[in-house]
Order: sequence, then C-alpha cells, then structure tokens
Amino acid sequence: MDRSRTKVTVPTILAAKQEGRPLVMLTAYDATFAMLADSTDVDILLVGDSLGMVVQGHENTLPVTLDEMIYHTRCVSRVTKYAQVILDLPFMSYQESASSAVAAAGRAIKEGRAHGVKLEGGVSVAASIERIVAAGIPVMGHVGLMPQSVHVLGGFKVQGRDDAARVRIMEDALAVERAGAFCLVLEGIPSSLAAEITDAVRIPTIGIGAGIACDGQVLVMHDLLGLDDGFKPRFVKRYAELAAPIRDAFQSYADEVRARAFPTEAQSFGGSPGVSRKPSAATEQGGGSEGYGPNDGDDDA
Ligand code: KIV
Repeated sequence: MDRSRTKVTVPTILAAKQEGRPLVMLTAYDATFAMLADSTDVDILLVGDSLGMVVQGHENTLPVTLDEMIYHTRCVSRVTKYAQVILDLPFMSYQESASSAVAAAGRAIKEGRAHGVKLEGGVSVAASIERIVAAGIPVMGHVGLMPQSVHVLGGFKVQGRDDAARVRIMEDALAVERAGAFCLVLEGIPSSLAAEITDAVRIPTIGIGAGIACDGQVLVMHDLLGLDDGFKPRFVKRYAELAAPIRDAFQSYADEVRARAFPTEAQSFGGSPGVSRKPSAATEQGGGSEGYGPNDGDDDA
C-alpha cells in the first residue's frame, strides 16, 4: 500500500479537522492485529476496554483492570510505528479523584507506552482531564453512550433522544473540550446531535453509532472483521466475515489430525533414524543445527 508514512501525532489529529480529513480509529488488543492495522492508513489504534468483552468474554467492560489494559497496550505499542496508540482507562481507574486519574494516565504512558489516554464522561470528569493534560498527557474524551455507566443507563442504549438529554450531552462535550482534550468520541447518539457537537467544538469528534457528520469514525476490530456471527448491531459495518472461514480452518485441522493427514513430509524434519536417542548438549539447550524457520529443514527431509 502506498502511504506517505509519517507518524500520527496530536497536532496531525487536530489539523485533520481543519483540513476536513476524516480520522480513522480502530481498536487493537494484541501485536499481530496491531501490526496488520498499522500497515494500513489507520490513524489511531485504541486499546479499548471493549477487550473485556471481545477478548476476555465478559458481558460488559466493568471487570477490566488497569494492569490488564497496560499489558494489552504494551503488546500494541511495541509493534506500532505510525498510528497514535491510546489506552482506554478502565472503570474505577480514574473516577475516584483527579489524583487517581493522573496516576492511572501516568502508568498508561510509562508502562503501557501509550501516546495518550481515553476516558468516559463530561462535566463530572473535566477536572481530571485538566490535571492529566497539565501533566503532559493527551486525553481523548468520550460522551453519549458511556459503556462504563451501563448499570445507570439500563443497558447499551442510544442516548440523547430527548431535548434534556441532548443538552446534557452537548454540555459534556463542551466541558471535555474546555478541559483540554484533543479529541472526542461520540458514542450511540442521534446523528443530528453528533452533527451539532461536531460543529460546536474545535477538536475532532470520532463517532461510533453517531452518524456521518463526525470528524472520524471508530469501530471495534472484532466487529469490523465479523468475528462474532451472533453480534450484528445496526451501527456496525462488517468489512469481512471471518467467523466462518476461521471455524472451517480449525475444523479442517482437527479432521486432518484425526485422519493422520497432518503433518505430512512437507511439515516434517529429516535426520538419521536411530541416532537421536541421546540428545547432544546443543539440542538439549534448544540450539540444534536444524532450524525452525519457514524454509529450514526442507532439504534434508
Ligand atoms: O472500548 C472501546 O472499544 C471504545 C470504543 C468503542 C470507542 O471505547
């Protein structure tokens, strides 16, 4: 892919809004998928606390810990050369006080090697955003449907349907901007409200279930790839249907192992029979002469 590969930074993200260039954000939780995503034109890799659901199998994001977020962010940041890596601060890592928020954000940068953090909330977390930004850490806000408040909301439901709720969400968005955030996720709100907020703030908005008027879009990687064929919400577009081919591959592997059709000579290593009972010092230490790479061991099989 031809891409003028420059590192995505906070200034380039802010400039995108002025230039009318849509921002592309995608979640990532491990090195393999982060590397694949970073080899494309994706601007931001969000290590979302959605990993609680798509990686850990929880029914919501609440059980995820800061240590877990740091672990996954380290996996992603280790291999990411171009995209901005954002750690999503998990439930109760920042809500208690501004000091706890700064401490959590500091760990995200020092231990997770993130470039910035995301946190949910508006007016109620503005003081924490200010403190984190004052410490030199970029903050991405998140208003509208806030999954960490799932028990208050009574489920994952679209927010801002009536006038009072629209006003509250607009106030939250303005508070996040005033506090110094560089970017704002708008989740699960009517497109018309997302358009009003996008007009009202100077920082870029990134939508999920918030319509076309946002300055950028984000999707959960597993949703985009169609990895869960039981999860098809309206706001997701599946750019691939990978559940079936992956399941087929696993089943073919199982069938071939049971039929003794795998491995064949092509996947096996050669060597003289009868001399391998007493391993050499080198092979005992894992340093045998026969390699284990994709092209090693073919010739003498
Ligand atoms: O956790 C997450 O993946 C998110 C995005 C959906 C915005 O917060």
